[in-house]
Amino acid sequence: MRPHTPLKEKVRRFLADHELDAAAIDPEVVLEDFLDEMTRGLEGRPSSLAMIPTFITVDKPVPPRRPVIAVDAGGTNLRVARVVFDENGSPAIDHYSNYEMPGLRREVGKDEFFDLFARYLEPVAGLADAVGFCFSYAAEITPDGDGKLLTWTKEIKAPEVVGEFIGRNIAVRLQSKGFCPRITLLNDTVATLLAGKSVGGPRRYDSYIGFILGTGTNTSYVERNVRIGKRRDLDPKGAQAINVESGNFRRHPRGDIDRAFDATTADPGAYTFEKMISGAYLGGLCLQVLKTAAEEALLSAEGAGMIAELAQLSTIEVDAFLRNPFASDSQPLGGLPEEDKEISLRLFTAVVERAALLAAVNISAAVLKSGGGASPLHPVCVNADGSTFYKTKDFRLRVEEHLRKILGPRGIFCEIIRVDDSPLIGAAVAGLTR
Ligand code: BGC
Repeated sequence: MRPHTPLKEKVRRFLADHELDAAAIDPEVVLEDFLDEMTRGLEGRPSSLAMIPTFITVDKPVPPRRPVIAVDAGGTNLRVARVVFDENGSPAIDHYSNYEMPGLRREVGKDEFFDLFARYLEPVAGLADAVGFCFSYAAEITPDGDGKLLTWTKEIKAPEVVGEFIGRNIAVRLQSKGFCPRITLLNDTVATLLAGKSVGGPRRYDSYIGFILGTGTNTSYVERNVRIGKRRDLDPKGAQAINVESGNFRRHPRGDIDRAFDATTADPGAYTFEKMISGAYLGGLCLQVLKTAAEEALLSAEGAGMIAELAQLSTIEVDAFLRNPFASDSQPLGGLPEEDKEISLRLFTAVVERAALLAAVNISAAVLKSGGGASPLHPVCVNADGSTFYKTKDFRLRVEEHLRKILGPRGIFCEIIRVDDSPLIGAAVAGLTR
């Protein structure tokens, strides 16, 4: 025990100095700020949360035996498939193809971007008359089911596409090839919410949330139209899914290492919440933490030398290290001296714990805003999707623990469910029910 005490203390001080310690964050304060930003966004007042109306309701029955094309344009992959639901609402997915998301590895222009989508859709475009298009980026949705890209996230490089209507641009190109499917665009969190509703329906939940923590992060929930003060054209008796764009939340605590890391990204100052919790960034943030630890002589000279050589660290590598710091010497941190390994492990665990706390505050805000979950008989259904949420060591456990602490005393019940292929299934639901 004794030799570890100073090390533990040194790490504790480092975490406190750089605001990396989750225990120093008061979840109630962040939650209040989150709820306030949500209200402001709904009312059209200045807010870091776009609170985008989607014109998608969750109560429409899904017609069985009608094929629909589902597209899932995610952070890394672009998946295309045909989906058919049976009488019980179970989806069958076929004609499945996986491509790389355009703009991921190199910058593409507007024409190349949309031409690629049309090319990937062409082989299946004749198999159905509707396309449900799950688009994992911030887009302003129009009542006709299209969406205009507001900003790129997740380091996608296609600047000419910002401000463009996604569905319309692809439809024009498909038309020139003889296809005229009706395209419905929706955010991946909204698709996830719909997938939760379509698969979790028999459980009779009070309300539905779609939560994503993968390459990026975001949340959607169902809001009453009367509360969407920024739109005057909505049926006051109705409700619809709202895309919160929670990755752009700004009123969260962050430290100097977070700021330094943000400055290295493609869009400094934007989506700072996402950069503290999601898969595209957690690895890079952990590397920035290690480099700072090396500069401040928290690591040994040998360890510091190794970290100085390291240009990149992925979230997957951080997770592999968390699971087994001795797994393989070929891993980027495999050769660190034992004591530096322990320090790294403590630092990464702190970064992950803070991310889990912030994710739980985000989910709690959506649950509370939904107004549901007052009875354990009808909890709020949180359909969670994304590799970071499920694959990062103990992440889901940590989130659930925080959710209980935040929502339990308020007497609010929610349940996290997992539905495989949520983005595709939800896109299919939207394509069929608009
Ligand atoms: C995007 C959101 C998306 C989320 C999860 C974020 O970077 O802005 O629209 O829902 O990632 O994929």
